[in-house]
Amino acid sequence: MRLAVLSDIHGNLEAYTAVLADVDQAGADQTALLGDIVGYGPDPEACVELTRELGLPSVVGNHELGMTKRAALTWFNPTARRSLEQNMEMLSQDSLEWLAALPIFLILGDCRLVHGAPPDSPRTYYFELNREEILRRMGLIDEPVCLVGHSHELGMAHLPASGGLERLTLGQGVSRLKPSDRYLINVGAVGQPRDGDNRAKYVIVDHQEGTLEVRYVKYDIQATVDKIRRLGLPDFNADRLL
Ligand SMILES: [Fe+2]
Repeated sequence: MRLAVLSDIHGNLEAYTAVLADVDQAGADQTALLGDIVGYGPDPEACVELTRELGLPSVVGNHELGMTKRAALTWFNPTARRSLEQNMEMLSQDSLEWLAALPIFLILGDCRLVHGAPPDSPRTYYFELNREEILRRMGLIDEPVCLVGHSHELGMAHLPASGGLERLTLGQGVSRLKPSDRYLINVGAVGQPRDGDNRAKYVIVDHQEGTLEVRYVKYDIQATVDKIRRLGLPDFNADRLL
């Protein structure tokens, strides 16, 4: 199964629609989201509505938890928190309830999807995990592939069937996966990249066929930036996209 996996849309409708058009072009059997559909960006309601309209499954991100569980707001720095509170006012009650019901992880075929780290953490960052911790956490799940977002950066850990672990950098293009091996894949961000390249990123994974494709997508960044400034969201949210 060719599974397109998108993470961290963060209310960036221009990036989201550009990526969905790219998925159509590239061809995928299923598309799923790794959470943080909202937070930071100017179009949280439209991004939630589009996700629901298309029936795309998603796990919960830390930003959804920040909006739907009051105590979780204390996890965020003042700028992220201000964006979250403004985003909450821009969301309908119906959308907030839908976000509150998102699952902590999903299993699709032979892939586990979770926002931060396996088995079920929406808050742990991939870059916080050392070798031992990756091996320990991957040992807690049955699926050969686990896809995560949250850090807004690409990366991959390869766990060969023969044992051990190698950490790999990921960039645009196709990598070969071994169907006999296991992988922890950090898919990058659609709506707010933090890797020094301002294009939206997502992946298409097919473990059985042994392919992982990382796709970079250009979108109308200026339109998103203008909306952020017009709405009075923190300037930092706009500057980070450029
Ligand atoms: Fe995020």
